[in-house]
Amino acid sequence: MEVVRLARETDFDGWRQAARALRNRRVPPESALWTVDGQASLFGGRSPSEIAAEPADASEATGGRFTAPKAFVDVATKVVLHRSDERFALLYRVLWRLQDQPSLMHIASDPDVAQLRGFAGEVSRAAHKMKAFVRFREITDEDGEAYVAWFEPAHRVAEATAPFFVRRFANMRFSILTPDVCVHWDLAALAFTPGADPADAPAGDALEDYWRTYYASIFNPARLKVDAMQKEMPKRYWRNLPEAALIPELIAQAQGRTDTMVRQAPSEPSRRVVKAAVRNSRDAPWEGQATTTLDEVAAGVDHCRRCDLWRDATQGVAGEGPGQAKLLFVGEQPGDQEDLAGKPFVGPAGQMFDRALAEAGVPRAETYVTNAVKHFKHELRGKRRIHQTPNAGEVTACRWWLDAERRIIRPRVVVALGATAGLAVLGKPTPIGKVRGQAMPLSGQAQAVVTYHPAYLLRVPDAAAKAEAYARFVEDLRLAWRLAA
Ligand code: URA
Repeated sequence: MEVVRLARETDFDGWRQAARALRNRRVPPESALWTVDGQASLFGGRSPSEIAAEPADASEATGGRFTAPKAFVDVATKVVLHRSDERFALLYRVLWRLQDQPSLMHIASDPDVAQLRGFAGEVSRAAHKMKAFVRFREITDEDGEAYVAWFEPAHRVAEATAPFFVRRFANMRFSILTPDVCVHWDLAALAFTPGADPADAPAGDALEDYWRTYYASIFNPARLKVDAMQKEMPKRYWRNLPEAALIPELIAQAQGRTDTMVRQAPSEPSRRVVKAAVRNSRDAPWEGQATTTLDEVAAGVDHCRRCDLWRDATQGVAGEGPGQAKLLFVGEQPGDQEDLAGKPFVGPAGQMFDRALAEAGVPRAETYVTNAVKHFKHELRGKRRIHQTPNAGEVTACRWWLDAERRIIRPRVVVALGATAGLAVLGKPTPIGKVRGQAMPLSGQAQAVVTYHPAYLLRVPDAAAKAEAYARFVEDLRLAWRLAA
C-alpha cells in the first residue's frame, strides 16, 4: 500500500504530482491511500515529492506519455475543494481509468464520473453562496479602518473565491475568517493564514444596520418564495447575515397574503436544465438557439461567460414574469441592489418604475421585466459600486439571452427603457427624444415602444421638467399596455 501524505486539504498540486508518479509506476487505485498532513502520524506515508523522486521501474512504467484531458483537470481543481474524504481517491481512480477510456469524462452515466461532476457542482454552488453571503463588519485596528467577515463555506472554497473579493473590494483592507483558512487583503497583496474560531469575528456594527435596512427595502412580500429563498440562502448561513434577523418576521407578516403563492413556489431548475444552459452559455454559436425554457435562460445567465462582466458581479440577473406575458420590458442592466437580490428593477429605479406602472394601470405581475445586459457593470469608488454603462460589445454579447427570452415568451409588445435597451431591441442607436411614444414594427409581428429609462426620471434636476418627463413616461406605458391587450 502506498500512503500519500498531502500537505493540505486543498493540495491539488501535491495530488497531481503524486498521482502522476503513482500512475507511472502502475500503482492501482486500490493500492493507494490518500491522507493529509496531520493524519500522517496514524498512517505514516510519504509526501508527493518523495514519491515523485523514486524512479519508475522500467517494467512498471507505462512507456507512453499520458496527459489528463482538460475536462478532467477542470473538474479536478474543483473536486479537491470538496469536503468528502473520498475526493483524492476518487480523482485517482478516474485518472487511472482515463488511460484505457480516454472519453470516460463524457460518459455521464458512469458512477465515478457522475460522483465527480456532482462534487464539482456542489463546490461551484458553495463558491457562489460565499460570494453572495459574506458580510463584512467594520473594525478599527492600529492601521485604521478594516473589515472582517466570518463565513463557514459548505466546501473549502475560501482561497478560490479570494480573488473575487479582491476585485470587488479592492479599496478595503479586509479579512475573511473561515474554519479552514483566513483570507487577508492589505490593499497590496493577498495572504492566507490557518483557519479561525468564530469568536475571532467581531459582532454587529453599523454595517449590519445598513444591511438590515437594505434587505427590508428589497424584500417584497408579494414575491416571497420561502422554499426558493431558503434554498438560495440556506439556514446554515443565516447567523453570519445581519439581515437574516429580519427573515422570520418578514415571512410571518407576508404569510397571510401569500400563502397560495408560497405553495406554488417554482422549484429550482433541474440539473439537466442547468447543464444544457451552461453548455449554451459557453459553447453554442449565436444561431444555436438551443435554450427553450425560462429556467434554462435563468441558469444560463448565471453561468454566462460571453463577456467579462460576470467577473465582478454577484450573479447573473435574468428576467422575471410569466412565460406568456404579452408585454415585455427591457431595462439596461441590473444595478447594485438588483445584483445582490438577483431580480430586475428592485432598487430606486425599480420603485420609480413600479409607481409609473401603477399610475398607467399596468399590472407588473402580468408583464415580463428583464434587462439588455444581465450582469451589473460597475467600478469601485471607495466602498461604493458605481454604475457604468455597458458598451455595444457587451450589449451584443448579451442579446443571446434577450433573444432567447423573446423567442420563448413571444410578447406582442417590447418596451425599451432607455438607450441601451433601444440598442438591444432595435439593433441600432436610438434617440429616445425623437422616437418615444410611438409603436415601431419588430420581427415576428411584435411591436416596439421606446421610452425613457426610469433612472433618467430620477435624475432630471428641474422639478417641472421632471414632472413633464414622468407624465410622458406614464403615457408611453399606457400606450404599450393598450397595444399589447
Ligand atoms: N436599471 C435597469 O436598467 N435595470 C434594473 O434592473 C435596475 C436598474
